[in-house]
Amino acid sequence: MAVELDGITKRFPGVVANRDIHLHVRRGSVHAICGENGAGKSTLMKILYGMQRPDEGTIAVNGTKVSFGSPSDAIAVGIGMVHQHFMLADNLTVLENVVLGSEPRKGLSIDFAGARRKIKEISDAYGLGVDPDALIEDLGVGDRQRVEILKVLYRGARIIILDEPTAVLVPQEVDELFDNLRGLVREGLTVIFISHKLDEVLSVADEITVIRRGTTVQAGIDSKTVNARQLAELMVGSELPSPETRESTVTDQQALAVRDLTVRSSDGRPVVDNVSFTIHKGEVLGIAGVEGNGQAELVEAIMGMRPSTGTIALAGTDVTSLDTRRRREAGIGYVPEDRHRHGLLLEAPLWENRILGHQTRRPNSKGPWIDRAGARRDTERIVREYDVRTPGIDVAADALSGGNQQKLIVGREMSGEPVVLIASHPTRGVDVGAQAAIWDHLRAARAQGLAVLLISADLDELIGMSDTLKVILRGRLVADVDPATVTPESLGSAMTGAGEGA
Ligand SMILES: Nc1ncnc2c1ncn2[C@@H]1O[C@H](COP(=O)(O)OP(=O)(O)OP(=O)(O)O)[C@@H](O)[C@H]1O
Ligand SMILES: [Mg+2]
Repeated sequence: MAVELDGITKRFPGVVANRDIHLHVRRGSVHAICGENGAGKSTLMKILYGMQRPDEGTIAVNGTKVSFGSPSDAIAVGIGMVHQHFMLADNLTVLENVVLGSEPRKGLSIDFAGARRKIKEISDAYGLGVDPDALIEDLGVGDRQRVEILKVLYRGARIIILDEPTAVLVPQEVDELFDNLRGLVREGLTVIFISHKLDEVLSVADEITVIRRGTTVQAGIDSKTVNARQLAELMVGSELPSPETRESTVTDQQALAVRDLTVRSSDGRPVVDNVSFTIHKGEVLGIAGVEGNGQAELVEAIMGMRPSTGTIALAGTDVTSLDTRRRREAGIGYVPEDRHRHGLLLEAPLWENRILGHQTRRPNSKGPWIDRAGARRDTERIVREYDVRTPGIDVAADALSGGNQQKLIVGREMSGEPVVLIASHPTRGVDVGAQAAIWDHLRAARAQGLAVLLISADLDELIGMSDTLKVILRGRLVADVDPATVTPESLGSAMTGAGEGA
């Protein structure tokens, strides 16, 4: 066995994150860990990577008992972790990023030539296709992820943990990642893989362990003996939801009208190029695209967080000259792409996070004053309605699991009856049960007239939720597709420009 975790228990104030967990991972296999939001997956992986100490239980690696005080102890016995949030420096090369923190010395100077050779060797051995001299900012998400994996291999990892690695990838990139993982396993490495997407788990994992409410419900299931529905039932006790919207609620009243919107990068290149569209009340407009094709800049321009030219009108009123706060007050809800950078104050309690970005409106304020009681009551409501799993509203946001942080943000942004919701990856990192609940909330609000701009890497979500679907490529809206007939595969190729000119 590569990894044996036995009787692992980990308590936080008010929560038992892990309770008597058993996880046995065979060497040379891909082992998936499934479980709903807050089940305890990330906590267990942080324990295995030396970031957190278990209160009880034992860890053995390759048959030897170990005790980790920090990640460097885990790295020393060959464990590596690729985090969900990439941790690469944009303005450095692959080579510089890989050696950062573990510089190979040759006398006093860094041995870059040796490092470059070693990166090439690793890249070739595992078919990663990484160019040591490429600049990180020029790489797409799939490439960046391969660099993260290479960095872990460079440090000598033989056991690699990937916490939700596919959330940002399009289907083709997911396939490539899985090929890479199979390559690693053929060479005798071991991969531990966390994902909420059950079809992915079934296609790549040899064995699956399901965790529910902090403990193992079923360990080491042979992936050939289960299907997605059975896994979902083990995870959340219910069937797989689907994101289909039923009857159309689209009206002819304009909610958001964007005209000739252009955003330029610092070197003057248009990253959003003359984009125009209208979203009506009761309509969900989906934008499909490979990450990095201008989606983030488009959203930030609409939110007034980034300079742009063109006009933006909200329910018939021009808001182009308003700043971000006034646009929010005028009725734009915003689920940001990066919940850590733009969505939450991690060290602040949940009820203060309820106020964030909404400080001038009820129930958070009364006249010029912050209304603490009102904000607290409304936080309780969000926790209830959106099923945010937490011991209370006074805990800090960083004590919530990733998916529960996301539910809190969606709940907050749906509050106060927004006219338009700008939703970037609203269910990223959210488990199948909670995803269905968020879809229900969105559908109910849409039936009441909410207009939604939906950006998502989850193509089933985009196709299922959208009334209108457009493809963005290199900053331009290049195609309209019919969500009623398009398949994820054909949408995926439209996104990469494969159908261009056709
Ligand atoms: N640093 C912390 N302080 C307090 N509680 C924490 C802390 N880290 C995690 N928890 C709690 O432990 C439980 C398990 O969280 P964990 O992050 O392991 O879940 P998860 O399975 O990774 O969920 P997700 O799919 O949403 O990422 C949750 O109830 C969470 O609130
Ligand atoms: Mg997690």
